[in-house]
Amino acid sequence: EFVVRLARRGIELVVPSEKTIIEVLREAGVEIQTSCEQGVCGTCVTPVLEGDLLHNDLYLSDDEHEEGRLMTPCVSRCKSKLLILDI
Ligand code: FES
Repeated sequence: EFVVRLARRGIELVVPSEKTIIEVLREAGVEIQTSCEQGVCGTCVTPVLEGDLLHNDLYLSDDEHEEGRLMTPCVSRCKSKLLILDI
């Protein structure tokens, strides 16, 4: 599990291994627009401020994956303990 911090809202939420970031945000009342929820469409792409990302999508390019400034919270996760999103 890891913690996701929403920088603009000033809240932190725990993402357990059996849940997606989108699910955790939704339960907390934070809606991120989604469509496929399979890492394909790009609808949920979200800006990242910090975190060692584990990309599981097929939407972002290899360069974007390496840069680590964007992620798809419907399928992708974080390898470090803290993920900070710019939302
Ligand atoms: Fe389609 Fe996340 S909702 S990539």
